[in-house]
This record gives sequence, structure tokens and C-alpha cells, in this order.
Amino acid sequence: RSFITVTAAILALCYKHRMKHIQQVLTCPAENASSGTDEDRHLQQLTRTQEFRRHLLADVCAKYQPGIIQRRVSQQQVSRVYVEDRSRLLYCEVPKAGCSNWKRVLMVLGGSATSIRDIPHDAAHYSNHLRRLESYDHASIAERLRSYTKVLFIREPFERLVSAFRDKFESPNSYYHPVFGRPIISRYRTNATRTALRTGTGVTFREFIQYLLDVRRPVGMDIHWEPVSQLCNPCLLRYNFIGKFESLEDEANFLLQSIGAPRNLTFPDFKDRNPREERTSSSITQKYFDQLNATERQKAFDFYYMDYLMFNYQKPFTDLH
Ligand SMILES: *[C@@H]1O[C@H](CO)[C@@H](O)[C@H](O)[C@H]1NC(C)=O
Ligand SMILES: *[C@@H]1O[C@H](CO)[C@@H](O)[C@H](O)[C@H]1NC(C)=O
Ligand SMILES: *[C@@H]1O[C@H](CO)[C@@H](O)[C@H](O)[C@H]1NC(C)=O
Repeated sequence: RSFITVTAAILALCYKHRMKHIQQVLTCPAENASSGTDEDRHLQQLTRTQEFRRHLLADVCAKYQPGIIQRRVSQQQVSRVYVEDRSRLLYCEVPKAGCSNWKRVLMVLGGSATSIRDIPHDAAHYSNHLRRLESYDHASIAERLRSYTKVLFIREPFERLVSAFRDKFESPNSYYHPVFGRPIISRYRTNATRTALRTGTGVTFREFIQYLLDVRRPVGMDIHWEPVSQLCNPCLLRYNFIGKFESLEDEANFLLQSIGAPRNLTFPDFKDRNPREERTSSSITQKYFDQLNATERQKAFDFYYMDYLMFNYQKPFTDLH
């Protein structure tokens, strides 16, 4: 078992029972916090955060998807999960939540690259030598799910959505403009110009949201805006480590340390896509959602509701219910 699982198990015992003899035998870390260094306290905090997130997820899953844990996992359900056998790691890819840098780290851990700095964006995505869990047979999938450290990194759902919109529609894009932009403009814009209909460039955030919320979308879902609750099947796969983009480097480095990664392998802080654009923040997100009316905002929240609930993100606007 990994360090994280063991430490978390000890903490769980300490907190649940507060039994004297257990404390004496195991020396509950939190009890001795005052005698530790700042670094120790920081690690204990990160460990407790993980425990809290796992418990919350388990509670939400028990309520909303009872019995799912007994089901057999299909290949399709692990199609977003990458495998790193040397460090016994499974990583579910969530676009717009640090996934390019995670792929770089997995490449270095697996030995297909020696340094993170040398891996360009396209190589991280298209020639990464990383294998997906779905490419294994059922027994190998089950064995890895049972014994590997399963990792998920998520991001505030509306910020992730705005980040995806800016990335795919506000910069030139030879795939998203024709494939998504064209049908979106043609369906939701009255009096669209010929140029807009031909290129699919210039989709507004409001048009994009109309597409997202349309039960009869003119073009399908996409991993960049698909809810994590569907993309990574958290109730079924029971991740051991649930990290957040909002504290990505700190939590990623904690995980790397926990799995015994080389000391000099630290999580990078590059912004790959459109590096000259400001990173999507909550104030930028607010500006985009100001373009919607109250009903649209509410429906968008409903669309990501399970992600908000499972990962303990606060309601982003006070008028939502
Ligand atoms: C870490 O150090 C080792 C030994 O000096 C070196 O071979 C390796 O490339 C370094 N790794 C990274 C990610 O810098
Ligand atoms: C679309 O164009 C027609 C003809 O020019 C005009 O009458 C109509 O008001 C326009 N509709 C919108 C929503 O701009
Ligand atoms: C909000 O916009 C939608 C179109 O997306 C429209 O159907 C609806 O009537 C608007 N609601 C309000 C309260 O203005």
C-alpha cells in the first residue's frame, strides 16, 4: 500500500476512536503537531485534506449512486485513465486542470523522457508513450485498479468551463472552430454572416452555453467541458488521491513525494495553451457568466451540480439554488 493510504488509515483511526492505546502505539500525527516542524504540519494538513475529500466523495456516491462499487468496470469507463506502471500510478485526465503537465510528469516517471523541460506541448499529448487503462484486458484493468494509486485532479467547474471556452473558441483553432463553432453558430445565431457560418469563428459564450444546455445538441460532448463526474467515474473507481487545480503544485508535489518519485522531479508550472493570455481566474469567470441570464446560470450550475457536490466547491453565485 502506498504511503498515503497508510498514513490516512492511521489518521482515520486516530480521529474516529481517539483511543489512548492506539495513540500510544501509533503516535497520532495530529496529536503531536505542535512538536513537529512547519513542514511536518503542512504534510499532515495535506494528508487530512485527502482524507476529507475521499470521505466526502464516498458519502456523495453512497447517496447518489448506491451499489455502483460492486459493478464490473468496463473498458469504456476507464478510457480517460493513464497508466504508469513503474510508479504504480493511474491518472485520470481532466483537461483544463493541469493535465498537460501531468502527462509530462508521467513520461518522466515512466522513463520515456528525462526532463520535463524538454517536452513540448504536442509531444505531451500526441507522442507521450503513455498507455491508457482501456487498452488492457479485464483482469489487468481490475488488478491495476485494485493495487495502484489512483489519482484525479479537478478544478472549480465554472472556471474549468470558461477556461475551455477561451482556449477553444477565442484563439484560432483548426479543429474546434469548424467542428463545434460552425454548428453552434448555425443553430443559435440569428442572421449569422456567411463568413461566421463558414469558419465557425467567433462563437460567443452565451451561444456556447446554449449548445451545452441543449438536450438536442447539434454536435456532441467534448472532454474539455464534460463533467468530471462522467469523465472519470469517481464513484466507480474510488480515487486514492483527489487533488485540486487551485493548489495544484503543492498537492501534486505532495503526491510525488508520497509515491517515492525522484526528489528532483517537481511539478512544473508552465501554462501551455496561449501562454500570453491571463490564466482563467474567478473574476474572469464572473465576467463570462455576467453575459448569461439567471435561468441560464442556474441551468449551467445544474449541469455541473455533481462536480460541485462531489468535490466540495462552493456555489459560485449567491442567486443559485
Ligand atoms: C534527476 O537527477 C538524476 C541524477 O542526477 C538525473 O539523471 C535526472 O535526469 C534528473 N531528473 C530530472 C527530472 O531532472
Ligand atoms: C435579421 O435580418 C432581418 C433582415 O435584415 C431583420 O429584419 C431582422 O430584424 C434581423 N434579426 C435580428 C435578430 O437581428
Ligand atoms: C434566458 O435566456 C434564454 C435563452 O437562452 C431564454 O429562453 C429565457 O427566456 C431567458 N430567461 C430570462 C429570465 O430572461
